Amino acid sequence: MAKLYINELNKKGHINAEIYGNFSEHLGRCIYEGLYVGEDSDIPNTNGMRNDVVAALREMKLPVLRWPGGCFADEYHWRDGIGPKETRKKMVNTHWGGVTEDNSFGTHEFFELCGQIGCKTYINGNVGSGTVQEMSEWVEYMTFDGVSPMAELRKKNGHEKAWQVDYFGVGNENWGCGGNMTPGYYANLYRRYQTYVRNYDSKKPIYKICCGANVDDTYWTEEVLKTCYENTPKDGSAHGFMDGLSLHYYVHPEGWEKKGSATEFDSRTWYKTLAKALYIETLINHHSTIMDRYDPDKRIGLIVDEWGTWFTCEPGTNPGFLYQQSTMRDALVAGLSLNIFNKHCDRVKMANIAQLINVLQAVILTDGPRMLLTPTYHVFHMYKYHQDSDLVESYIEGEKTIGEEKEYMVPNLQESVSVDKEGVITITINNLSVTDSEQMEIAFAERTPAEVTAAILTNEMRAYNTFENPDTVKEEAFNDFRVTEKGICFTLPACSVIQFRVK
Ligand code: AHR
Repeated sequence: MAKLYINELNKKGHINAEIYGNFSEHLGRCIYEGLYVGEDSDIPNTNGMRNDVVAALREMKLPVLRWPGGCFADEYHWRDGIGPKETRKKMVNTHWGGVTEDNSFGTHEFFELCGQIGCKTYINGNVGSGTVQEMSEWVEYMTFDGVSPMAELRKKNGHEKAWQVDYFGVGNENWGCGGNMTPGYYANLYRRYQTYVRNYDSKKPIYKICCGANVDDTYWTEEVLKTCYENTPKDGSAHGFMDGLSLHYYVHPEGWEKKGSATEFDSRTWYKTLAKALYIETLINHHSTIMDRYDPDKRIGLIVDEWGTWFTCEPGTNPGFLYQQSTMRDALVAGLSLNIFNKHCDRVKMANIAQLINVLQAVILTDGPRMLLTPTYHVFHMYKYHQDSDLVESYIEGEKTIGEEKEYMVPNLQESVSVDKEGVITITINNLSVTDSEQMEIAFAERTPAEVTAAILTNEMRAYNTFENPDTVKEEAFNDFRVTEKGICFTLPACSVIQFRVK
């Protein structure tokens, strides 16, 4: 028996909706086929965007989308993707399969897509192979409403009004695919490039994101912050010229080289994968400790703009396309990671799972006109009520440590709890055990539950959805609970993610 204590009166911080963000790169079938099919397609679309996909993303309440990369961002030249489609430059996508990129999805199409989804925009600029002028003019093209060469060009291309760029990344993985730079070199470039990311509308300033570390590279974090804070006012008011610092972390059960199958795994690999997913909390703590030294008031957000599982790609598919299936194991990775981000909402201001459709830990897979929702989608859907809520204090008593290998032991239960503006409490709990259900009691500090609803995602650990059987793993209403004066009693099945909403 485990007891989840909730002190709903003790608010610990605000959960930015953007923690539930996603990422779409010009990679494999994410943009083309997944999101964008073109106006002439037989697949129902609005201005080229798939109607089925857009509807599902609206239902999931996708808050923000990052584009155009990834590694692709540092070889993307935005001018290639504007103007009449017939004359747009064709290029080779060197990072991802060497395929021809015809640039039919560009800046205008990205804003059209985000407008249809109703989400915020996160553009990633090119430092690796682009110039300061190119980046500066892209920002002018997108956001300047007055008279200027770039605003005129945008109007000529059919868009009168400036768009809103909510987030702007100055380079991506500049320690690797974004130019193989040293931290000091990149940090100086960051200072220079970001200077020309102008805020043309002072009422809607762009949130500038500096390229942060890969996994546990605390040296990068330290050196970048040191250089960005050099010769800035002692009171820290320049906050290193940045609003956010990124962090990338992928879960590969068998390491970067071997990765491991997305669907064929045993319980040993299940626990190993979940232990590796939980490691994101250690990473957040380590990088945040360094950030605290420069930015004790937590003015700079840690932006986990690439995270999720990365398995060996689906047999028979293009290895450069990173297409993988998503099982209950992915659902647990998502559930655990999102609970951790919630609990670190004082520092983690945005997170973008990689990637939206048909790539890595996707929320949607497509096959021609067919579409399916992955277990990961259902977790995001169940967790959506945490968006823009306040984290509250919670603690599980009686949890067990489980697993099959000493170095990959995990807790059997993990949770996070929030309260929204209307006072509704959202509780999300994961049962990491492959075999054992757990009797649980939820105990509130003061709340006498007046109305309780619950939803659950549970199945065998390797279960996943196919185009033939798209509903094998799906969110279902959960009614098997008893409401007490100050709590809820229920049995949580093995291998499950549950969500309660309590009024
Ligand atoms: O998400 C796939 C790739 O992983 C991205 O392009 C890159 O930023 C990271 O290495």
